[in-house]
Amino acid sequence: MPKETFVSDYIRQVSKEVKLPRRVRIFDTTLRDGDQTPGVSFTPDQKLLVARQLDRLGVDTIEAGTPISSEGERKAVTAIAKAGLKAEICGLARALKEDIDAALACGVDCVHVFISTSDLHLKHMLKMTHKQVLEQAVKFVEYAKDHGVTVEFSAMDATRTDLSYLKQIFQATVDAGADRINVPDTVGVITPRGMNYLISQLRPVIKVPISVHCHDDLGLAVANSLAAVEAGADQVQVTVNGIGERAGNASLEEVVMGLRALYGIRPNIRTKLLAETSDLVERLTGIPVPPNKAIVGDNAFAHVSGIHAHGVLEFPGTYEPISPELVGHHRRLALGKLTGRHSVEKQLRNIGVKATKEQLADITGQVKALGDKGKQVTDVDLRAIAEIVIGALPKEEKVVELKEVTVTTGSTITPTASVRLTIRGEERVGSATGVGPVDAAIAAIRTVMSEISELRLKEYHLDAITGGSDALAEVTVKLEDERGNIYIAKGVREDVVIASVDAMINGINRYFVGRK
Ligand code: KIV
Ligand code: ZN
Repeated sequence: MPKETFVSDYIRQVSKEVKLPRRVRIFDTTLRDGDQTPGVSFTPDQKLLVARQLDRLGVDTIEAGTPISSEGERKAVTAIAKAGLKAEICGLARALKEDIDAALACGVDCVHVFISTSDLHLKHMLKMTHKQVLEQAVKFVEYAKDHGVTVEFSAMDATRTDLSYLKQIFQATVDAGADRINVPDTVGVITPRGMNYLISQLRPVIKVPISVHCHDDLGLAVANSLAAVEAGADQVQVTVNGIGERAGNASLEEVVMGLRALYGIRPNIRTKLLAETSDLVERLTGIPVPPNKAIVGDNAFAHVSGIHAHGVLEFPGTYEPISPELVGHHRRLALGKLTGRHSVEKQLRNIGVKATKEQLADITGQVKALGDKGKQVTDVDLRAIAEIVIGALPKEEKVVELKEVTVTTGSTITPTASVRLTIRGEERVGSATGVGPVDAAIAAIRTVMSEISELRLKEYHLDAITGGSDALAEVTVKLEDERGNIYIAKGVREDVVIASVDAMINGINRYFVGRK
């Protein structure tokens, strides 16, 4: 097993019992079945861009489109066929002369010929007999083959097709020259065990490479694809991000990493390009990758619980079955309410910040408090919090301490704020109005502190630390005393008003220290 992955002994044991293929071909159909995703329609230029990326990634076959379907499709498939890519370029065709001619005219290396074989499809769609379908399949596999291209034959709806008929049509098409046969689970209704059985039945009688094409209607496309490989399939048809008809196809990144991590089979794929390939397809299709999507989702290598984060920081294999670098992704420690002091300390070290024990406890407390309010703390947030805590005056030098602040504001009422604070231990309470909630809060501080009547707010600056409406607010204030001394201070909170009050109080404390 490769070193960068961590699998269980059970898998190793089972793997000994099956004869795994040494190599598995990756047939990518992002530009064909993926183009059948509701709401997706690649332009020829976009298709060429994706094809170049798939070629860099190392897929064995790029199914570039269905040439018979439109002028744009023919343009795209022709451009991809002429682009000088290493991958085999394939076009889809029904078992019909005009479809195959359209694909051949694009200059493809391979024609993927298909016809339905299940009784359900024969009765309700094709209105043909088994014999007629078999004859048509053989006739057009031969026709395509006569034009010197590689031919892959698919029995559509294979997993609902009578097994003896399926064997018969596959054998007949292989005899007619098919170079590979493909077993589509067209509506995603097989189980891993069923797929294993089906491929085990076909394997002894089919003398050419066997491929599978699994749909994800019941969320089993990847599991079924891997089960097929366990039973001797040589090729898997996949799409980037698992896009495709309805619930989509088996996802390329999951199949490739499953093969590599769980079976030690290394398809010809530069796995480091998986994340960027996923990003490209997400961008061009507008189909968002769910954050919890395996391998390429934003959360695929994000650790939240303190226990997990601790483990990963000590040794990544504790909670990462594959390393993020292997797929071009990155590890993220999402700090929040479940985060422990250990993770905060390590994460601070990672971002180059050193904190004392006391400061660490304070920073961890703030991280947890933010987590309790539903926020996850990013590295940028953490740095801002740490800067405030580390840059703060020691507790014994703090003259003023904020106990509470409340504000009321709205479109039809005057913003009003109340503050409760202590000055050298003496409690003071006051309120004031202002043009906005921040102005009211600062005015309220002034009403209870005659000692700062000479202190002027010279500058006020507000920054949202990260994007989004739940971003932490960083407020910087510049205060000037009667002698022209300047005191700069910051406050970082999830609430702009409280961040502003914190910044003011920090500045006032510096002012008092300066006057000692
Ligand atoms: O799902 C399917 O059966 C297909 C075939 C064309 C292979 O996409
Ligand atoms: Zn399909």
